[in-house]
Amino acid sequence: MQNLKLETADGIAILTVHRPDKLNALNAATFEEMEAAFRNFETDAGVRAVIVTGAGEKAFVAGADISELAGKTALDAMTTAQRGQRFFRAIELFPKPVVAAVNGFALGGGCELAMACHIRIAAESAAFGLPEVGLGTIPGYGGTQRLARLVGRGRAIELVLTGQRIPAAEAYRIGLVNRVVAAASLLPETRNLVQAILKNGPIAVRCALAAIHHGLEMTTDEGMQLEASLFGVVGATEDMREGMRAFLEKRPAQFKNA
Ligand code: COA
Repeated sequence: MQNLKLETADGIAILTVHRPDKLNALNAATFEEMEAAFRNFETDAGVRAVIVTGAGEKAFVAGADISELAGKTALDAMTTAQRGQRFFRAIELFPKPVVAAVNGFALGGGCELAMACHIRIAAESAAFGLPEVGLGTIPGYGGTQRLARLVGRGRAIELVLTGQRIPAAEAYRIGLVNRVVAAASLLPETRNLVQAILKNGPIAVRCALAAIHHGLEMTTDEGMQLEASLFGVVGATEDMREGMRAFLEKRPAQFKNA
């Protein structure tokens, strides 16, 4: 991996986008490495959750690599957007929790990457924005869709049309991030949050993620049906029996992912 740093400890993989001289901008090579990393995370039983962050103190990811986008034809640009959308959707639908630890600029594709993650924790020094219109283009990795769903249509329109950059505190106020923490405690706090999730039944966590992500694309009645079906799936697991038995026996549950 030329553009990523990967480390796994206690079931948590940390993927650090590592192009600090380009503020971790996502070029095609970095994209390919990230896709490969997520393919491995999916099948690696030792990975139970993923944290995505950026190298250095300045940037999470400062966007798609503008030097690569500049020369694209219309068809190339569409294909690039479709590929980015496919990958970010795969992150959104990833069966294990994915948390963005946003350590600095999350602009353009960086903001879109953070939005595709399941939870966003931001350092106080982080800044968010979709500045694409200033480059004469539009967000192409799901930004127009996810921002509106996260913060509402009016705020999304304002942010996308102005291309304005907002600090972490404002991102928190409008619901773009879940939490803002001191820069020095970003990774420890993110890890604590992930560890709290990992104490829970892994199949239940996976089913809850699927119910929310797929359910949001359905009518309420269809979403309810999906929820009931997944409730049935977890009802067939040993982990559900163990979780309930542990509660009744007043002891911590020993989940087995079964
Ligand atoms: N694509 C390619 N290179 C990028 C980049 C991007 N999205 N963002 C930053 N870089 C590169 C710069 O070109 C520069 O490279 P160089 O040293 O070889 O000239 C390096 O990263 C440092 O960036 P610089 O602009 O000098 O830092 P800064 O502190 O002055 O500004 C930003 C920081 C984030 C405000 C500024 O880099 C920026 O606006 N980046 C583009 C953000 C954007 O529009 N993203 C959406 C892309 S679709």
